[in-house]
Amino acid sequence: MAKFVVTPWEVTGDVNYDKLVKDFGTTRISKQLLEKTKKHTGKLHLFLRRGLFFSHRDFDKILDDYEKGKKFFLYTGRGPSGKTHLGHLMPWIFAKHLQDKFKAEMYFQLTDDEKYLVKNLTLDQTIGFSYDNALDVIACGFDPKKTFIFLDTEYSKSLYKMAIRISKHITFSITKSVFGFQNSSNIGLIFFPAMQAAPCFFPSELKKKKMNCLIPAAIDQDPYWRGIARYVAPKLGYPKPAQIHNKFLPGLGESGKMSSSKPNTCIFTTDDPDIVKRKIWNAFTGGRGSKKEQMEKGGNPDICKIYQYLYYMFEEDDKKLKERYNNCKKGKILCGDCKIYLTNKINKFLKEHQKRRQKAKRQLDKFILRD
Ligand code: TYM
Repeated sequence: MAKFVVTPWEVTGDVNYDKLVKDFGTTRISKQLLEKTKKHTGKLHLFLRRGLFFSHRDFDKILDDYEKGKKFFLYTGRGPSGKTHLGHLMPWIFAKHLQDKFKAEMYFQLTDDEKYLVKNLTLDQTIGFSYDNALDVIACGFDPKKTFIFLDTEYSKSLYKMAIRISKHITFSITKSVFGFQNSSNIGLIFFPAMQAAPCFFPSELKKKKMNCLIPAAIDQDPYWRGIARYVAPKLGYPKPAQIHNKFLPGLGESGKMSSSKPNTCIFTTDDPDIVKRKIWNAFTGGRGSKKEQMEKGGNPDICKIYQYLYYMFEEDDKKLKERYNNCKKGKILCGDCKIYLTNKINKFLKEHQKRRQKAKRQLDKFILRD
């Protein structure tokens, strides 16, 4: 089996999600859990219908408690090391859906400290990217009255008090085994997991009552919850935070997730229509060498990035998606057709997103939490 790596700082290779569920000790989202979710959300979100949010911890308990009248808050975030790409939007779009359906508050952490510690960037740069990325968060359409965005370096009074309480229970040996830290790792990074765990609990302090927390994020962030937040929760007297994990939107190349470090196979939310067109045109497809061969033998949508993008985000209609899959296999459509179709879908989506992003510049103050 091909080798792959999934850590908060590195995702490479073709990810085997079954293996991750086993290794991380999470639970696959079952049919029953989907049925239970549907009772509250109506038609299931595309990400759930298509198994893109695929694994969880205690999401069932969150729903049980909710049914008994106990609300929960949402928590997610971004490490501001550059521009936002379409993959980052997946957990945020889903968080916005959950906010709407469950009328939940959402806490959004921008870890400018983390990215300063791990990347070759200055603090001014990671703070700058925080404010830039916050525009994408706001553009997802969150409710300003229920959404709180904060930067670690700027909201430190509240966060630090919680992080320091967490850190007292976490030994160097725990962080070494959870994150693979070495003696050569800088001490900022060794402390940092306490900062990322802090928002699981500090809303309980703000509200002066024990609040349930649900974290939508890709599965690369799991070590923070498994190794730190869920471990310290009972020691500090808070409920263990629950998670719902998404798969990675792939890059446009042959393998690997969408990643800002590979800008040609990555679509940024600020890309112009022509750039999107060029990137899609050069994407890896499951097409044959010639038109004739494609029509005779059919293409392979299972390995095609264009098809995957439609599957992940850009073809809401399940019936149309299936038709495209079958038509590709039968050689009834050519890669060029699908590329044009996807380019138009993405550009339409980005046009709206970019408009909201522009508007968000005037709304920042309504969302940013300060102490
Ligand atoms: P970051 O900036 O690496 O990623 C932001 C969010 O995007 C998810 N993600 C993806 N999802 C789908 N497809 C992809 N290709 C893809 N790439 C990244 C990540 O899982 C993440 O949810 N340390 C964090 C910031 C953070 C955070 C949090 C994230 C702070 N608190 C709470 C989630 C929940 C980071 O660097 O994320």
